[in-house]
Amino acid sequence: MKHEAFHYPTLADAEREAKKLNAFVPMSEDVSVLFKALPLAGKQAANRIAFQPMEGTDGTEDGAPGELTCRRYHRFAKAGPGLIWFEAVATLPETRASAHQLWLTEKNVDEFRKLLDTVREISLKENGYAPVIIMQATNSGRYSKPHGYPEPLTAYSCPPLEDTPLPADRIVSDEDLRRFEEAYAHTAALCQQAGFDGMDVKCCHRYLACELLSAFTRPGAYGGSYENRTRFLKNCYRSAKSALKGSSFFLTSRLNVYDGFAWPYGFGVRTDGSLTPDLTEPVRLIRELKEEFDIPLINVTMGNPYKNPHVNRPYDHGNYVPDEHPLEGIGRMMQGVSEIQHAVNVPVLGSAFSYLRQYAGNLAAGMVAGGHCAMAGFGRMAFANPEFIHELRSGDGIQAAHSCVACGGCAVLLRNGTPAGCIVRDREVYKL
Ligand SMILES: Cc1cc2nc3c(=O)[nH]c(=O)nc-3n(C[C@H](O)[C@H](O)[C@H](O)COP(=O)(O)O)c2cc1C
Repeated sequence: MKHEAFHYPTLADAEREAKKLNAFVPMSEDVSVLFKALPLAGKQAANRIAFQPMEGTDGTEDGAPGELTCRRYHRFAKAGPGLIWFEAVATLPETRASAHQLWLTEKNVDEFRKLLDTVREISLKENGYAPVIIMQATNSGRYSKPHGYPEPLTAYSCPPLEDTPLPADRIVSDEDLRRFEEAYAHTAALCQQAGFDGMDVKCCHRYLACELLSAFTRPGAYGGSYENRTRFLKNCYRSAKSALKGSSFFLTSRLNVYDGFAWPYGFGVRTDGSLTPDLTEPVRLIRELKEEFDIPLINVTMGNPYKNPHVNRPYDHGNYVPDEHPLEGIGRMMQGVSEIQHAVNVPVLGSAFSYLRQYAGNLAAGMVAGGHCAMAGFGRMAFANPEFIHELRSGDGIQAAHSCVACGGCAVLLRNGTPAGCIVRDREVYKL
């Protein structure tokens, strides 16, 4: 479906368009709610703005933060989000998404520690508070590319994701899964040692733990029933928990509550073959994670950045023109975030606000003020101009001339395996 690129001179124009499309896009002119603190696991996020995990593909070969990694987090720290959800960090070398994805080891844990110390120092000096920092621990599964070419570790054969079926030996065994689970203990111990406040057992965007949630067709202990499909995620939590010392460090997840693929190849979808979300299982899962692991918040997301990026991060320019208006994509995400927030007793961090550009803060405020989520997470906008927080705080609002334009350039850099950043607003450093 062709649609006109973003063209809303005023907030009211954007609201009118969303209404015409029947999309759930609650906006508020008053953004002050974003600057209220949120207590979080004995700590405090100074405001309701989070920076979502944004992988830069700029670590060193041995997995330590590189020069551009440090530059990125220093910029983030200066901007003053209440929470930084630190990007995907591999739990094992063979599960890295690129040869330059971060990978936390005994050898480089001090370099992570140094980076975190500096981030807290910069934020304290610039803003008067330090952010809560959560590390995203990942197993890239189907999207593992540790040597720069695909070496997939898949949960099951998934036709919507495979143009030609992958060889059977690319499907990981139950034994492999148990080994992958054990790795989370080691990573959790190092993560705590590095000084993160908490660790995300990443379960989104169809990386391994997320893919297993829809492994309806997989035989054995990790496929078929809800109990089996959630076994890997919960075992990773148990493994991580067994390695932690003290009580202040917490576990959480970034969770796909909807994949955007029809049953039996998607999680959070009706079983009638349609693409209509059904959040019954995601709600049950979050409640169980709260019950067993006392997660202090949950980061809600959707889609697959490789196959249906319009579900994951609505855009104006991409590899294909989706069959819906980007505001409908925003509406699906906001509706899902809201449904989850109303169903669970855990603060929800919402995703995918950047498409709204200069109005992204108004959407964030509308969502938080309406009780649809507790925090708003920004991805591409944090790459384009992390300082949008100061623009919001000043009362002038996010400046269109500095904001993300949803061009997809950062994602192209990421897919190319090259350092990722904003090719429009940070173009001295990042070029396609
Ligand atoms: C370049 C790039 C890197 C990303 N890296 C990660 C990542 O490491 N972990 C993750 O969960 N999501 C990652 N994402 C997804 C974003 O966190 C976010 O969900 C998505 O961009 C939609 O939010 P936005 O509209 O604010 O950009 C990445 C997205 C992009 C474009």
